[in-house]
Amino acid sequence: MHQILVKAKPFLKWAGGKGQLLEQIDKHLPIELKKGKIKYYYEPFLGGGAVFFHIMQKYPIQFSYLSDLNEELILVYSVLQKSVEQLINELTKLSNEYYKIDETTREEYFYSIRHAFNEKRSKIDFDNYSANWIERASETIFLNRTCYNGLFRLNKNGAFNVPFGRYKNPRILDEDNLRNVSKLLERAKIFKADFAEVKNIIDKDFFIYFDPPYRPISKTASFTSYSKYDFIDADQKRLARLFRELSHNGNKLLLSNSDPKNENPNDDFFEELYGGFNITRIDANRMINCNAAKRGQIKELLITNY
Ligand SMILES: C[S@@+](CC[C@H](N)C(=O)[O-])C[C@H]1O[C@@H](n2cnc3c(N)ncnc32)[C@H](O)[C@@H]1O
Repeated sequence: MHQILVKAKPFLKWAGGKGQLLEQIDKHLPIELKKGKIKYYYEPFLGGGAVFFHIMQKYPIQFSYLSDLNEELILVYSVLQKSVEQLINELTKLSNEYYKIDETTREEYFYSIRHAFNEKRSKIDFDNYSANWIERASETIFLNRTCYNGLFRLNKNGAFNVPFGRYKNPRILDEDNLRNVSKLLERAKIFKADFAEVKNIIDKDFFIYFDPPYRPISKTASFTSYSKYDFIDADQKRLARLFRELSHNGNKLLLSNSDPKNENPNDDFFEELYGGFNITRIDANRMINCNAAKRGQIKELLITNY
């Protein structure tokens, strides 16, 4: 049994986070990973990174490639990797200030940080690491922990627009976890990229987990609006073509998505895109309907080339 040295877990709440599904996903991981035959892990839709944290601590992966199109997210991971103690200092300042004021003032404080965060966006060079990334990462974590539902939503202009969350005592800073995450990231390359970049990087002995933004289940549900970049059916098709292309070189691929059959049993969108691969359905406890009577167990898709 591979020894678990650190206990790192997601440090951001993220739409589509896979924390709840880890046990089920684990059962569908390739046997080669469990036997220690796979050395490299790649997650091109990183988000909160729940699956990365799980795999990296349970199986003997030597090195991981982590990417996402969201530059604010990649900035935070990069800061954690390079400057965790400075990040903890910045977050300590923010959380101390926040805890010592009453609830009304906290709301004002939240909006003042949000406003400053949006004002500074145009001054950040997201391509080159610099000292001002540390303050920005601390603000992103702060906003994520104190905003409504822990969403990270940017509008068309790239402004963070989630309202105040009204939590009694949100956990803004978890020092031990941030240090554990940082330790784990010593064996990772983190970069901003469209998922298509995968094909320029992988060689052999890779396990790749694709967790793209969900295809919206109904027209009203907008699970895909993570950022100013929308993920439309054309992107799902582009991803399916890449999946097929990569599956030829001996790498192990796993992809998850929402199951359109939850709403329309005749919707064969993913069966058509992933014909010839293994498609399994697992139980997810996600809410798909604002009408309470229609809520309930829904399925999520897992697609593998093994
Ligand atoms: C479902 S979330 C990932 C959730 C994550 N696995 C977790 O457990 O928290 C999808 C991610 O894809 C990213 N994304 C959207 N379009 C992308 C693209 N074209 N290429 C790469 N990443 C993209 C979003 O920024 C978002 O973080």
